[in-house]
Amino acid sequence: MSPSEAAEKRRRAEVLLCRRSSGWPIFHHLVRSALQASGLAARGLRNSLDVQVRHQTWTTPAQVAGLRILHLSDTHLDGTPGLEKKLLEFILASPHDLLVWTGDFRFRKWAFDPAELEPTLWLLRRLPPPRFGAWGILGNHDLAVQVPLLEAAGLKILINQGVEAAPGLWLAGVDDPHHYRSALPEAALSGRPADSFCLFLAHSPEVADEAAARGADLYLCGHTHGGQIRFPAFAPFLNSRAPRQRNHGRFQVGKMSGFTHSGSGSSTLPFRLGCPPEIVVHHLNPTE
Ligand SMILES: [Fe+2]
Repeated sequence: MSPSEAAEKRRRAEVLLCRRSSGWPIFHHLVRSALQASGLAARGLRNSLDVQVRHQTWTTPAQVAGLRILHLSDTHLDGTPGLEKKLLEFILASPHDLLVWTGDFRFRKWAFDPAELEPTLWLLRRLPPPRFGAWGILGNHDLAVQVPLLEAAGLKILINQGVEAAPGLWLAGVDDPHHYRSALPEAALSGRPADSFCLFLAHSPEVADEAAARGADLYLCGHTHGGQIRFPAFAPFLNSRAPRQRNHGRFQVGKMSGFTHSGSGSSTLPFRLGCPPEIVVHHLNPTE
């Protein structure tokens, strides 16, 4: 699929979905009011800026071993003032060869004001280009109109496309599987060299079965925020149709490994409890 065909497909999906969606304004208002009344709002805001850098190690073929992949997801940067400065500090201190950003750059969903992307563009303009590039995909909070702005700031967006990002590494990126349901794994894997290692990017874990069936090796996603608010002994609310064990951290589907990011930002409001925001560095290590 050519870049213009991919962008046009996403624009058509937005026209259909934005027409019938208005978000959950009453639910969000109730959540905000309840947190303010409980006195937890200030603590939750502090937590939402308490970014943790986590490391994950994966066993891979020798041709990609040694690569370090810095993974951002669900930054929603215009929703948490000051978060972009925190992320910049941690990214600059985390050596990596490739940066991947699995969607949800902004807070709102359905309409777009260019100011909503400003903190993301501020951050991108200050990042030194990684050796094998900075790559992103669209999430369910994103619109196609954001793509040229992100790309002009140095983040190449893959919409149902794949590219040989590094020697022996096929990087596949699909469109949003959650709201827009426009992910096309077969298009993103088209052209993949037979012996390459496939790193597959999707906004949510909801197309992991399809990616595994088509031979992807490592599936990176986000969307669920790990629940964002977690209480001990209670299962968190998770906004995805994927099996529950795929909604937070590491998972396995056949031979394919997967990882669902807890999110670097917050949605609904800048509030986190029991589930800190994170930056993840994935280390590809040689097969034993
Ligand atoms: Fe999302």
